Amino acid sequence: MKVMAVVGARPNFMKIAPFVRELRRHPLCFDPLLVHTGQHYDETMSASFFPALRIPEPDAHLAVGSGTHAEQVGRTMIAFEQALKTRNPDLVVVAGDVNATCACSVTAAKERVKVAHIEAGLRSFDRSMPEEINRIVTDRLSDILFTPDEIADRNLLNEGIDRAKVKLVGNIMIDTLDTHREAASRLNLGEIVTANRMGGDGLASGASLWDDGYALLTLHRPSNVDDPDILARLIGFFADEVAHELPLVWTVHPRSRRRLEADGLWQRLTGCPGIILLEPVGYIEMLRLNLGARIMFTDSGGLQEECCVLGTPCVTLRNNTERPLTLREYGGTCELAGNDLVRLRKRFLEMRSLPRRPFRPPMWDGRTAERIVASMM
Ligand code: UD1
Repeated sequence: MKVMAVVGARPNFMKIAPFVRELRRHPLCFDPLLVHTGQHYDETMSASFFPALRIPEPDAHLAVGSGTHAEQVGRTMIAFEQALKTRNPDLVVVAGDVNATCACSVTAAKERVKVAHIEAGLRSFDRSMPEEINRIVTDRLSDILFTPDEIADRNLLNEGIDRAKVKLVGNIMIDTLDTHREAASRLNLGEIVTANRMGGDGLASGASLWDDGYALLTLHRPSNVDDPDILARLIGFFADEVAHELPLVWTVHPRSRRRLEADGLWQRLTGCPGIILLEPVGYIEMLRLNLGARIMFTDSGGLQEECCVLGTPCVTLRNNTERPLTLREYGGTCELAGNDLVRLRKRFLEMRSLPRRPFRPPMWDGRTAERIVASMM
């Protein structure tokens, strides 16, 4: 069977890596192909992940680049249609909820090529998120829906999706986490900081940074970074409150950096005591930073899941989540706080000294890719 796997943006790489590796273990059954749409395209957001996660070079690169959602999705559909015609796969496999996921599933469905979706069934029930639209469209069009948990199964059944198409396989991100965890734990934090530093004060080389722990921050959702007032308030909170108590390591997404520079906030951050600004770091480096953090602040869905399995207390800068299992009320380590300062402050004060409490939901066991591929044989 000719299986065409698709990657487009950073969060796809850790989901496709174990799947492609598992396919390649069965060369008599599968002829795997990898297509990179090029939504993320630079060294830190894309290229560095291929050798680090041992993903083979893509067979086709569509180089769609940045743009509005319509531009990205439109360009991807045009280029992917061509890739389908040239390569003629039996099955297209997409992962997650980025624009590439949606664009390639629509194109494949129109070309009457079967689609399988890894990480199906997640719902935030918030259609102001582009990712929610991508999830709904992709799931609607998929012939096989590989889900991470029972809540996702229920979401799909509630939408009238045929039970026979839904396969509960667990969370494939955790396959990648388990594969690289040991290597990550051997990395030196000071070296990660030195190699990736963009600015911030002189704390990084001081031993106390690592001895007493630190807070880790990532931020990229339009709801947090695109509105200058909201972004300025968040910067005030992190600079004046969090960084006064704990060193704050921030891996800065390109979208956020552009907004910070445009809003005149970048200078303030680079001169702020206690804040260490890093380029977007590789997967294994991020895992190491997460393993050593006392608390995480993030609006990323994938990091919420990783915090859950590693036990890192995680303040989620969103008002909802498509990953409820990661919340403390379900046994996870995350609390929703949106971008409201009162809620953020409260969560910071109550969670900064919590002990690590790792939590693995059923089938988040590192064997999801194995189950997916076994079900395709
Ligand atoms: C995308 C995904 C989001 C995911 C995130 C992880 C969608 C709708 N969103 O959002 O779900 O959590 O990736 O990063 O698909 N840029 C670079 N270099 C790159 C890639 C992007 O500088 O390699 C810049 C772009 O020029 C753009 C900005 O970053 O201005 C945002 O990129 P984009 O792909 O539009 O969306 P993300 O915010 O990264």
